[in-house]
Amino acid sequence: MTQIISIANQKGGVGKTTTAINLSAALAKQRQKVLLIDFDSQGNAGRGLGIDITLLERTVFDALIGRVDVNKCILPSPQEGLFLLPSNLKLASLDAFFQATPNPEPFRLLEKAIKDLKAEYDYIIIDCPPSLGLLSLNALTASDGVIIPVQCEYFAMEALAAILSTITKVQHDYNSRLRIEGFLLTMYDPRITLATEIATQVRGLFKENTFIIAIPRNISLPESCAKGLPVGSWRPSSQGALAYAALAREVLDHDQEKR
Ligand SMILES: Nc1ncnc2c1ncn2[C@@H]1O[C@H](COP(=O)(O)OP(=O)(O)OP(=O)(O)O)[C@@H](O)[C@H]1O
Ligand SMILES: [Mg+2]
Repeated sequence: MTQIISIANQKGGVGKTTTAINLSAALAKQRQKVLLIDFDSQGNAGRGLGIDITLLERTVFDALIGRVDVNKCILPSPQEGLFLLPSNLKLASLDAFFQATPNPEPFRLLEKAIKDLKAEYDYIIIDCPPSLGLLSLNALTASDGVIIPVQCEYFAMEALAAILSTITKVQHDYNSRLRIEGFLLTMYDPRITLATEIATQVRGLFKENTFIIAIPRNISLPESCAKGLPVGSWRPSSQGALAYAALAREVLDHDQEKR
């Protein structure tokens, strides 16, 4: 059965997009058919897969408002088995669109737009924007699970309170099947004391809900993004590539346990 997983944290720059691209690509490498939904108007997931998003006529925004069939918005990617539902600046006009065209269920747009895609893919991964507004609520309402990247730096724990309370609200009001797939330590550098302290706190608080693998700080990750390739294609033996391959195996193992 298709698993829909949001990568969410309202804190900016914590590694959501890097995780969305490289987890998606690593799952595809492990013979899963994967759709990555770029759900941020920055369009970084598309850019990181080498796509010029500025000129796209058909994006996730057009599928959300029902202007174009979602299948017509999906693009192939450099990784076999990985497909992209791209985004660009148009997505930032969603709030304005609703002011002009009120909708009784504005949090269920994504769920409805991708309903018929479920049979097509093993995994649908959603790269959320750095906010807890309409887009993130749509993503969480459409998802079975959520991965929360935690950057091992100042104020990491403070940010978690807000995302946890949003998850509880979505579970209660819109989507009771939503579960926390895991907290993921990102940009982890064991030589930095603060990083190890935060990692210990996260593992102490969230225990088996924290992924065993911590994603290390690794230059191959930003480099591969700039090249428009998943790290597993650009530097397959780098620490970054090995870490995301290990994360994909953990996600696959979780799903096996659930079946
Ligand atoms: N493990 C890592 N090692 C080194 N650099 C990383 C790592 N993960 C992410 N980065 C870099 O950190 C920056 C922020 O990462 P990313 O864009 O994935 O975060 P984000 O949470 O999606 O940001 P935003 O909130 O703006 O959407 C990028 O320049 C990215 O290349
Ligand atoms: Mg991002």
